Amino acid sequence: MKAITRSSYGSADVLELRDVDPPPVADDEVLIEVRAAAVDPGVWIMMTGRPWAVRLASGPRRPRVPILGLDVAGVISRAGARITRFRPGDEVYGTCRSGSFAEFATAREKQLARKPPGISFAGAAVVPVSGVTALQTVRQAGVQSGQRVLITGAGGGVGSFAVQLAKIAGASVTGVCSPAKAELVRSLGADQVIDYTSEEIDRDGPAYDVIVDLAGSRPLPLLRRAAKPRAVIALVGGGHAEGRVMGGFHRLMAAPLISLFMPQKLKGVTSFVRVPELETLTAHIESGAVTPVVGATYPLAEAAEALRDHATSRSAGKIALEIRH
Ligand SMILES: NC(=O)c1ccc[n+]([C@@H]2O[C@H](COP(=O)([O-])OP(=O)(O)OC[C@H]3O[C@@H](n4cnc5c(N)ncnc54)[C@H](OP(=O)(O)O)[C@@H]3O)[C@@H](O)[C@H]2O)c1
Repeated sequence: MKAITRSSYGSADVLELRDVDPPPVADDEVLIEVRAAAVDPGVWIMMTGRPWAVRLASGPRRPRVPILGLDVAGVISRAGARITRFRPGDEVYGTCRSGSFAEFATAREKQLARKPPGISFAGAAVVPVSGVTALQTVRQAGVQSGQRVLITGAGGGVGSFAVQLAKIAGASVTGVCSPAKAELVRSLGADQVIDYTSEEIDRDGPAYDVIVDLAGSRPLPLLRRAAKPRAVIALVGGGHAEGRVMGGFHRLMAAPLISLFMPQKLKGVTSFVRVPELETLTAHIESGAVTPVVGATYPLAEAAEALRDHATSRSAGKIALEIRH
């Protein structure tokens, strides 16, 4: 099968389109004919091996798994002996084990849900990591009807879902983004937009009940100045924003401790893609309440260009790779 592989960490220049063997399928796995995969900061981090802390899991000197890609949408090609929920021919989406930048990938049942029939494979592939992260963040922050919620990085992969999910919860949403993404963020339901290139997020004083920080680029004192005294501040992003060793992860890990010394509640969010959340998102997509935002699509062979596009943040929402068989 064709796959995008790499044998070292580095820039998008390390990626190569090669012919490799399809992955072996265990009894508790399915083989998916991949129709689309997605590009996000997690893929960027796995490609570059930065921050270095990720190499503890992915290989200290070189990547243990040669094929990139976690989000997947496709058609079940083969089901292992212990699979009960799916059969060959089913259209699914979720996260995979073997790397989705390939014509075939393996996944466990508990990583997959049925693809909403009304959307494309690219539309489904941008959902799992970003949509579930947004859903778990909105839930963990306890977003409620009537609250004012500020979301930084509102035009990105997670942000485009977070804006829509906070609106479903009944909140008044302020999205923070660059001017190029303002129209999109409004179209997703944001009541107000702050252009961070000309205004700061504390322009209205301590106005917000919940702040969801996806951009990870604003200092904590500034987030606190924009938050009401009993607000929840959810820290999600910043993994590749700063620091060679830990990136921005130290902020997420230190959140429970720092929270003890401030009136506002600080939460570090770590998301996990699970079936119940995927099925909630499926229901929202089928009802039309949530629309996945595919900012750009690239063929598999142009994965390196897709990664470069992602790094510039010029595409809104999330970028998808489309794989033709
Ligand atoms: N904790 C977890 O479990 C978890 C899970 C998934 C993702 N993440 C992290 O969450 C973050 C967001 O992920 P993503 O997939 O949404 O990334 P993304 O698609 O790259 O979006 C990030 C957005 O931030 C915007 N941005 C940059 N500087 C900004 C600023 N100062 N204020 C407001 N927005 C700004 C960028 O666009 P514009 O500048 O053009 O507006 C971009 O749209 C990443 O750091 C990622 O690593 C964490």
